Amino acid sequence: MNRDFVASPGRLFLMAAGVVGAVALWWRRNPSACPYSQRFWVEAPHPLITRARLAEILDLDPGERVLEVGPGTGYYTPGLAERLGADGTVEVFDIQQEMLDHTIRRARERGLWNVSATRGDARQLPYDDDTFDAAVLITVLGEIPDPGAALLELARVLRPGGRLVVGELLGDPHYVTLRSLQRRAEAAGLAFEQRTGPKVGYFARFRA
Ligand SMILES: C[S@@+](CC[C@H](N)C(=O)[O-])C[C@H]1O[C@@H](n2cnc3c(N)ncnc32)[C@H](O)[C@@H]1O
Repeated sequence: MNRDFVASPGRLFLMAAGVVGAVALWWRRNPSACPYSQRFWVEAPHPLITRARLAEILDLDPGERVLEVGPGTGYYTPGLAERLGADGTVEVFDIQQEMLDHTIRRARERGLWNVSATRGDARQLPYDDDTFDAAVLITVLGEIPDPGAALLELARVLRPGGRLVVGELLGDPHYVTLRSLQRRAEAAGLAFEQRTGPKVGYFARFRA
């Protein structure tokens, strides 16, 4: 046995923290979708970026048409669908079919039939110009290899005056700062309106 190395709990903890940090840094530099097998991260409670705060900043009217890009397992989706009522629709769009299936199942279990799903990449949205009244993108932007392209697409599919709400939470390896988000969104032609929550866990609203 090597006597120079004593595997004390403190050392083991530091080593584990180092490995987790290195993986997070690598993932941040190489953006990709959070795999369905890791979905426990998106099923956990979302501090700061709460459903109530989203409802407040999104300010939905019944009957509106909403696009949710990257719903994960549908943490926010049923709440949106309930607010829109039977005349409104939530279109969920994700790169992973398993996430879409999970979200649809969750909505149906709550008796919500105004949610529909399409699979694809946010850098190329399969919708006509001016299709949606609002769009949401929560802890998704940093996973997209070209976030500028996704924001341009969102600006295109929103009707003039439509709103985009982006949510970000520090601790997510792909966290996007408000400053970086504003710069990218403005380059895509979206005007910043307001933020809710602290900078470490915020929703920001933009107008097309
Ligand atoms: C971290 S999860 C967030 C889930 C959910 N918005 C939430 O906050 O609970 C990111 C989601 O974005 C999706 N995603 C990542 N890259 C994407 C892309 N290029 N196009 C569409 N969806 C993407 C992932 O598959 C995943 O469902």
